[in-house]
Amino acid sequence: MTRTSQDYIQLEHNYGAHNYHPLPAVLKKGKGVFLWDVEGKKYYDFLSAYSAVNQGHCHPKIIKALRKQAKRLTLTSRAFYNDALGKFEKYITEMLHYDKVLPMNTGAEGVETALKLCRKWAYDKKKIPENKAVIVVCQENFHGRTITIISMSTDPTSFKGYGPFTPGFKVIPYSNLKELENTLKDPNVAGFLVEPLQGEAGVYVPDDGYLKAAFDLCKKNNVLFIADEVQSGLGRTGKMLACDHEGVRPDILILGKALSGGVMPVSAVLADDDIMLCIKPGEHGSTFGGNPLACKVAIAALKVLKDERLAENAERLGKIFRNEMKKLEKEHDMVELVRGKGLLNAIVIKPKNGKTAWDVCMALKENGLLAKPTHDHIIRFAPPLVISEEQLMEAVEIIHETLKNFK
Ligand SMILES: Cc1ncc(COP(=O)(O)O)c(C=O)c1O
Repeated sequence: MTRTSQDYIQLEHNYGAHNYHPLPAVLKKGKGVFLWDVEGKKYYDFLSAYSAVNQGHCHPKIIKALRKQAKRLTLTSRAFYNDALGKFEKYITEMLHYDKVLPMNTGAEGVETALKLCRKWAYDKKKIPENKAVIVVCQENFHGRTITIISMSTDPTSFKGYGPFTPGFKVIPYSNLKELENTLKDPNVAGFLVEPLQGEAGVYVPDDGYLKAAFDLCKKNNVLFIADEVQSGLGRTGKMLACDHEGVRPDILILGKALSGGVMPVSAVLADDDIMLCIKPGEHGSTFGGNPLACKVAIAALKVLKDERLAENAERLGKIFRNEMKKLEKEHDMVELVRGKGLLNAIVIKPKNGKTAWDVCMALKENGLLAKPTHDHIIRFAPPLVISEEQLMEAVEIIHETLKNFK
């Protein structure tokens, strides 16, 4: 029996939890910047699995590493050593210039790890009284879905109905140095957790100089600057890390998503010894974190980023893309605003005749480009970083034609 897209959608609806609202594209194949649905229709992928597929779908070098390791050894747990973990640890710490790395799986686990590490440092090194450590976070943050992480969320869709919440967070406005300065006067503040660019909130780019000034304020107050680069990192914004745009080296760096090129969940927290060694044997971990398969995949994924100069490509093509999108701002009354950095961009849609960003995404899908609205009025455009200029211009043409003919 040949199943249609509708059959698969129905299958998920019947047997899966209804915790997502996907665009009705049922995909079965991916290669580079393209995806194909079960009817064989080809699309430009302009989401890249929320920036996990920076290296493009099924990158041959990453898949080769996966297959080679999958035949040898996949999981040992950390009860024993394995011959891949140390190599990964050496590779990533040398590449990103940190003393140590702690591998986990999902982005949320990376964030949880960073929060625990920050609290441990606060009690061991900063000598904050037990249970009094405060971590400062920003409004509209998105750091994942665990109870502790949603405890610091300001988005009711994330937190409503899931209390009681984890205490110890103070929320301040994003890109607001005055508020940060005031908040850091509290001697119990241990860390400042920030996305260098707020992706899920709708691709909000902070003011120029914000990250550097925030970092300096943290240093002045002996507070750890913790960057959640799960979405913004690994080439996406035109530098290896979004913090690199302002020459900031976070005290704690969180990576995920593209760390495996979208092949499997791999996340990592990086820090120097003074911080990282606050966590002692047996105090934190994960059965799958640092497994040999993930390690080999992650080394291959990082090599691809470097060898194919994907950050540089994102920087160059991002400028071209924003220029093209700015033209749309003038030509189409539904396009209110264009913003972004590198190849993480968004357009803000002004609803017209009851039509929202969702309807625009449906029309883009019909025309062969997949993008997803974030909130009701924002469309994020984040193609794999392996996209060529020619492909980018073809995609721009699809966006342009879609908006021109949008009823
Ligand atoms: C900045 C940021 N942090 C953390 C996460 C959570 O990652 P995961 O979904 O892998 O848990 C996300 C996911 O979108 C994210 O964008």
